[in-house]
Amino acid sequence: MSSATTDIEITRRDRIQTLRLNRPAKKNALTSAMYAALADALASGDAADDVTAHVFVGSGGVFSAGNDIPDFIASSQAGGALGGEVERFVRLLPRVAKPMIAAVDGPAVGVGATLLLHCDLVYAAPAARLSMPFLDLGLVPEAGSSLLLPMRMGYARAFEMLVLGEIFDAERAREAGLVNRVVPADELEQVALAAARRLSMKPPEALAIARRLMRGDTTALEARMTEEVGAFRRCLASPEAMEAFRAFMEKRPPVFRRG
Ligand code: COA
Repeated sequence: MSSATTDIEITRRDRIQTLRLNRPAKKNALTSAMYAALADALASGDAADDVTAHVFVGSGGVFSAGNDIPDFIASSQAGGALGGEVERFVRLLPRVAKPMIAAVDGPAVGVGATLLLHCDLVYAAPAARLSMPFLDLGLVPEAGSSLLLPMRMGYARAFEMLVLGEIFDAERAREAGLVNRVVPADELEQVALAAARRLSMKPPEALAIARRLMRGDTTALEARMTEEVGAFRRCLASPEAMEAFRAFMEKRPPVFRRG
């Protein structure tokens, strides 16, 4: 089985659904069509009896450069309208019923990194670089990261990542609890798939219940996502966000007005 969008390659094999981010020329930056393909695949995989786990992988030595910047520019010009598909994908993440696993090589930026907070197992190659540079783009944390990241690594480290915009390499991400294991790049996908196969051998009912119990009540997370979406929209429409996006596209440092 494969999806309509070639930038997301969906395959199902051995009861595992693999979602490959496949837009290497743009570092796998996510467009609206790609969010839609991911959300559709997660929903249909969750509903399918022959799927036991979802595995996210990148391509071209990159996981994802996060949201497509030209799409951000278009949203900003539309007064901060966040694409409907972005929101559909992000809000689906806490509701996905089957385990999600990620294999991360190279940059994992923005939603390419916050997505990992919703995964059950994350494997990283030594060249993985996780970053959440929302502030530098005039934006605010999304996908529940303002709640989940401090819970995961403590406020001090979460502040470094979410506000200072520090890049965490594979080892630092492992120490911080974002990554389960650092594995050689040429074994990365096999390790992730092997973990998915182990999960597919577990008794399915007990697995589903255990996962639900461990994740707990998602009411607070979903409420935080609503707050984040509101703030994100306001920031998206701001002159400083537009300056940051333009600067990226023009390959120059941004110039923010102060005072
Ligand atoms: N959206 C759209 N295009 C992107 C992109 C994004 N998020 N990230 C990278 N690209 C494009 C670049 O514009 C460039 O296109 P071009 O070849 O047509 O000029 C191409 O991908 C290669 O990017 P480049 O920056 O030259 O690659 P790099 O290896 O030096 O750096 C990254 C890779 C991911 C570290 C860097 O591209 C980056 O920081 N991207 C922006 C990440 C970001 O801020 N995302 C939003 C988070 S909320």
